Amino acid sequence: MTDVLDGVRGHYRATGLTERLKTAPTALGPEDQRLTPQQLGTLDQFHTRGLAATAELAKLADITAGMSVLDVGSGVGGPARFLAAAYGCQVTGVDLSEPFVDAARYLTERTGQSGQVSFQTASALELPFDDGRFDVVLLQHVAMNISDRARLYREIRRVLKSGGRFATFDVVLSSGEPHYPVPWARTPATSFLLTAIATREAIEPAGFRNVAWQNDTEAAKAFFAQMRAAGPPPSLNLGVVMGPDFAQLAGNLGRNLMEGRLGILTAVFEAASIRT
Ligand SMILES: C[S@@+](CC[C@H](N)C(=O)[O-])C[C@H]1O[C@@H](n2cnc3c(N)ncnc32)[C@H](O)[C@@H]1O
Repeated sequence: MTDVLDGVRGHYRATGLTERLKTAPTALGPEDQRLTPQQLGTLDQFHTRGLAATAELAKLADITAGMSVLDVGSGVGGPARFLAAAYGCQVTGVDLSEPFVDAARYLTERTGQSGQVSFQTASALELPFDDGRFDVVLLQHVAMNISDRARLYREIRRVLKSGGRFATFDVVLSSGEPHYPVPWARTPATSFLLTAIATREAIEPAGFRNVAWQNDTEAAKAFFAQMRAAGPPPSLNLGVVMGPDFAQLAGNLGRNLMEGRLGILTAVFEAASIRT
């Protein structure tokens, strides 16, 4: 398992990311200039359909003010900052990649949200929290990097209160092998895709009841078609985070969706009571 985690960390290594963000000529403006989560949306929402997808998932998960939310695999923190700003909830993010956590903290200082949003370096398979701590857990475009799904979903169930919500937004296998590299893996060695049905079959036994189920593949295809038609990306884009090959990685995800090899699943589950 350590080898796999090291492989995933290597894919998201983002060496010197915070320094690059600080010194990028156009990107973030002077240090004392307050940024909004919306301004960062093309840089910090590391999943298909960006900010719009996070907003839809949050709505489906019924997030409300004062809730305690955990974002598992929080990347550079865009979803966490958006949720805190839009709903007035407290958000904790955990991510395997130390440079991402460092960048997430820096960007959160820049949006002035450090009192409401925090980040820790940790594995989703060993969450550093007590049982029943959170009202909602979000997992967006992370499960594809995790082979031990049973353990992932058990950990998520453990840290949720009974009756809490688990909202997931994932790339899933459809028909045929995907073309690599893709945004979460440059080779199949760190990619662990399941079909939508197999994902549900892995989640429910961990103690969950399904409450929302959406096939979002067509919306994702439209998003990629629109991106292609729009021409060059804005200066703040995920290439700043992932490096110059990001356009190729994203292009392959679009191609895999268009060819019916991959799909996009949104689903929300309620945490069942744990019998003792
Ligand atoms: C495609 S990015 C998505 C980031 C974020 N959820 C978002 O939507 O903006 C996948 C993230 O999952 C993290 N990740 C992958 N495997 C993980 C694991 N086992 N534990 C914690 N984080 C993990 C990666 O480091 C990366 O930040």
